[in-house]
Amino acid sequence: MEQQKLWNAVDEFFEEKLVPERSKVFGGTEQCREWNMPDMNVSALQGKFLQLLVRMNRASRVLEIGTFFGYSSIWMGMGLPENGIIKTIDFKDDFVPEARENIAKAGLADKIEVIFGDAGDILQEMVAEGEQPFDLVFMDADKPRYAEFLELILKLSKPGTVIITDNVVREGEIVNKETHLRGVHGVWRYLDALVKTDRLESTAMQTVGVKGYDGMIISYVK
Ligand code: DHB
Ligand code: MG
Repeated sequence: MEQQKLWNAVDEFFEEKLVPERSKVFGGTEQCREWNMPDMNVSALQGKFLQLLVRMNRASRVLEIGTFFGYSSIWMGMGLPENGIIKTIDFKDDFVPEARENIAKAGLADKIEVIFGDAGDILQEMVAEGEQPFDLVFMDADKPRYAEFLELILKLSKPGTVIITDNVVREGEIVNKETHLRGVHGVWRYLDALVKTDRLESTAMQTVGVKGYDGMIISYVK
């Protein structure tokens, strides 16, 4: 697709100029190719965007739902202060050791804890055990369960917590009422939940680039 080629070229243009550190972030496109997996990572520019959000919010406690190979975890980890931590959850037992290895290679093993398990169960445990609230949450796992996760995330939040939710546009399928994509149905339910709570102020950002046409919802806990 012509458009996609242009988006790729523009991503490459900015990456080369603004994100030379991309070579130190492991677990990206190459590893997906190696594993014959769809490239479910954020792009380098988006990873850097997440990192800047961590910095701008002075976030020291970050929660990530969906680790995959640790790519976005590493981007965010590079923005943490000295005492900062990330807890990142994934339920795929073949991803978790790879993610831990990538994180260690990036020198972030002492800051990023990869938790193996079902995100719903882990979040529930965190709530039950009185986990301190997180400053920033990146939600990027099982899209049909976004609304369920939100309820738990809100219990692990405080005023000022920022929640970033990935893959909310899906090539525009979000406005196709006939879509069969389960992830899009999940985002609709997520939006219903977002709108129902009066604790959040939110916006959506459409994105194009090497990942095609997609977007993120950004929410602020009041
Ligand atoms: C898919 C998942 C993601 O989180 C993403 O950013 C892109 C694609 C997927 O499941 O295909
Ligand atoms: Mg994603």
